[in-house]
Amino acid sequence: MGVLELDNVVGGYGDTQILHGVSMHVDAGEIVVIIGPNGAGKSTAMKAVFGLLKLTDGAVLLDGNAITNTPPEQVVRQGVCYVPQTGNIFPSLTVEENLEMGAFVRTDDFKPRLKEIYEMFPPLLEKRLQAAGTLSGGQRQMVAMGKALMLEPKILLLDEPTAGLSPKFRGEIFETVKTINSAGTPILMVEQNAKQALGIANRGYVLVDGKNRFEGTGQDLLNDPEVAEMFLGGGKQPEKTSKPAAGKKPRKSGKA
Ligand SMILES: Nc1ncnc2c1ncn2[C@@H]1O[C@H](COP(=O)(O)OP(=O)(O)OP(=O)(O)O)[C@@H](O)[C@H]1O
Ligand SMILES: [Mg+2]
Repeated sequence: MGVLELDNVVGGYGDTQILHGVSMHVDAGEIVVIIGPNGAGKSTAMKAVFGLLKLTDGAVLLDGNAITNTPPEQVVRQGVCYVPQTGNIFPSLTVEENLEMGAFVRTDDFKPRLKEIYEMFPPLLEKRLQAAGTLSGGQRQMVAMGKALMLEPKILLLDEPTAGLSPKFRGEIFETVKTINSAGTPILMVEQNAKQALGIANRGYVLVDGKNRFEGTGQDLLNDPEVAEMFLGGGKQPEKTSKPAAGKKPRKSGKA
């Protein structure tokens, strides 16, 4: 079932159109990854879902209902949480205060959810009274994701959660993303570390110049020579243990 759908979304900043008809969807239980070159419109696509962008055409659907051009505070209440690329925590607040801030629109008792978040991210329990800004980069990302999860969203949007992290922390973040997903939250994630991200993804989209370029399962995209050439480092191919079945090749999207 489609949890989130972007249907031919067109929009941009001021008079500058950035998204020229982007379509993608996330189904229940899925991790879906968006990759593409710098400036392709990946972050802009996330902002389009979150109501931070004026769309001039197309639609955004949540559980089949249009949320196109709904303001962010209402998008949050409807169950979409978004962790932006930068500035996603309050560094001078403690870990726990950050998590509590995440619950700001909840009117019920959020303490049980806080307990669940600490169970999901044990390092955060240990450091709950420490200023979030003093944590490692990987743990700061955990705070950002934990904060978003306080609302028990229907879907979580992550913009480059591993940006600037060392390979060790990157691995931890991808494990964290899998943990969140296994606990029941579908995830739409933009990532530069395409190989690792597609490795944990059910499906992926390649955006180029504000348009869909390729789409397929994580494995399909990893095994596609053109995608590999462009995004996975010099056309090196992953080992082909699970060659995709015929007819399941990554599709070139759109008519462009
Ligand atoms: N607030 C803004 N106002 C005007 N133009 C913007 C704004 N944010 C982004 N852009 C422009 O929109 C285009 C797409 O940017 P976007 O941030 O969506 O790319 P991206 O794919 O996320 O790139 P990156 O990999 O560098 O994060 C770029 O040309 C960028 O300069
Ligand atoms: Mg971006």
